[in-house]
Amino acid sequence: MNKIVSPNSLAAARSLTEQIIKWIDEDGELDFNIAISGGSSPVILFHVWHELFLKEIDWQRLQFFWVDERCVDPRDSESNYGMTKKILFDHVPIPPNRIHRVFGEIDAGFERERYTKLVLSHVPTSHGIPVFDLVLLGIGDDGHTASIFPNKMSLLTSTQIYAVAVKPGSKQERITLTGAVITHAKHVVFFVTGESKAEILFDIFEGNKIAEGYPAYQIAKSCNDALFYLDSNAGRLLTYP
Ligand code: 6PG
Repeated sequence: MNKIVSPNSLAAARSLTEQIIKWIDEDGELDFNIAISGGSSPVILFHVWHELFLKEIDWQRLQFFWVDERCVDPRDSESNYGMTKKILFDHVPIPPNRIHRVFGEIDAGFERERYTKLVLSHVPTSHGIPVFDLVLLGIGDDGHTASIFPNKMSLLTSTQIYAVAVKPGSKQERITLTGAVITHAKHVVFFVTGESKAEILFDIFEGNKIAEGYPAYQIAKSCNDALFYLDSNAGRLLTYP
């Protein structure tokens, strides 16, 4: 696990974007397949992509998928696709057929199956597991990532590619990538900003016992080289060489 800490969230977003552009350039394949998360953290990243790097990103080579999606209508304020469309897709030259949204408005079980087949037909696989070029993750205040919550650690090792998950509390259904697929990606990045994540990140980087119960920790330690792009607020408690 490596961390790249920037003074603020804008600097962290720029730093990560510069690295992603390098990965896209290095990747000789036609398609660069990205699975993105939702929530609030990626908002600044998506703004940076179209406001500061519109010309530098080779949009025609990107294909977008979701790490997880809430089972709601795409027009719902909770929709990860709806948020990303408003902030990013409406402002960049990506062909619509290269944006593969989860149909959050239909039956979760049916959509899980449909989306799994769609991803398998678009993303190269290794031993039957899709290998995304980049999986972009956030971390919840409870240590969840994707929609793998601490009360359902079995999704870390599930043989399903996408699973139906339920958010504790709200009981909102989600469609989520499972742990083994995430850790198979060429690049796994956690983009984490804000003071509220400092304690979680401290537990993760210290390998504290409590972190064992965080899906984010389990994913990070199972990856060859998970990268954490942080702002100084989120990285406040971490030690530096
Ligand atoms: C989602 C995300 C989820 C998110 C974390 C962090 O659909 O909510 O995919 O895994 O990354 O909950 O959320 P914030 O970025 O809003 O803190």
